[in-house]
Amino acid sequence: MESQSDIAAASILAWYDRNRRAMPWRALPGVTADPYHVWLSEIMLQQTTVATVGPYFERFLARWPDIGALASAPLDDVLHAWQGLGYYARARNLHRCAGVVAREHGGRFPDNEAGLRDLPGIGRYTAAAIAAIAFDKRATVVDGNVERVMARRFRVEEPLPDSKSTLYDLADFLTPDQRPGDYAQAVMDLGATICTPRSPKCLLCPWSEACTGRDIAAELPRRAPKKVRPLRRGIAFWLRRNDGAVLLRRRPEEGLLGGMIEVPSTEWREGPLIDRAEAEGMSPIPGRDWKLLPGFVAHGFTHFRLELAVLSASAAGDPPPSSHWCPIDRLGEQALPTAMKKVVAHAVRVENG
Ligand code: ADE
Repeated sequence: MESQSDIAAASILAWYDRNRRAMPWRALPGVTADPYHVWLSEIMLQQTTVATVGPYFERFLARWPDIGALASAPLDDVLHAWQGLGYYARARNLHRCAGVVAREHGGRFPDNEAGLRDLPGIGRYTAAAIAAIAFDKRATVVDGNVERVMARRFRVEEPLPDSKSTLYDLADFLTPDQRPGDYAQAVMDLGATICTPRSPKCLLCPWSEACTGRDIAAELPRRAPKKVRPLRRGIAFWLRRNDGAVLLRRRPEEGLLGGMIEVPSTEWREGPLIDRAEAEGMSPIPGRDWKLLPGFVAHGFTHFRLELAVLSASAAGDPPPSSHWCPIDRLGEQALPTAMKKVVAHAVRVENG
């Protein structure tokens, strides 16, 4: 008698064998992927989509074909190649991790979750993904896609985040001993292509018969209402040189948006407004003739909301430490976090009509 989990694994693996997505880091069917490729792709995928990661992954591999090459690369080269992938803390950990694997593990990744979790930048999800995909070890791989699939298949109506451990246990219950790497990627592919957030394609799903949440699939997983987040306010400095270049600054490595590029601003403060005179004193370069642009830029971070006013002025001179003048037509190439892209869009729109 086959168990529910055996049947589930057999049907999704048969589906995966016909529908697996080709990805540059995936091995050919039946071949176990290179741990270096799996690790690199999983770290890159933590912050962005499969489509964005593809070219970065190819460039990294062409330049640093194995873990030893990456470990010996200057950190600055790695940070530079990372530009556009977001949080530099991840790139620093990537480089540190390469160093530890190269020096302390003879260039080979540990083949089990516990050993992988001891490495810099590798948490529960990534350790499980590498153990399963690169070593075909049974490991419970749970990301947002997998949570959604489990919530629907087992009709878990309890909202996230309280349901996290239930969803993990359900994912664990279904994870097979056979082909665990393919299985992990099959569930992720199912979540990305069939069991999608808004309009799941249940008619095409290999698990549709067993799925008990079909009638309310698009509503699952439920999420607890977001707590009202406090409002912080600040003033950004849109400093333009007479050739049109804009002053940008690199944020400190530690803390929120660590190491990312920003439009300079005052501190972001909860409570009393920073008045204009105080703000002007905080500008990285003294401006001439400050102008307060109409409107605000609003952005939601995980733990607070941000509202920025923008002061604009022309300025000249050498950029202060950690800053540079960026030609206006090269702003698109900068690794700006979303909040800062909004500041740029706002200032450009207001100033150019
Ligand atoms: N998302 C992150 N890693 C993935 C993988 N290996 N396959 C499909 N989607 C993913």
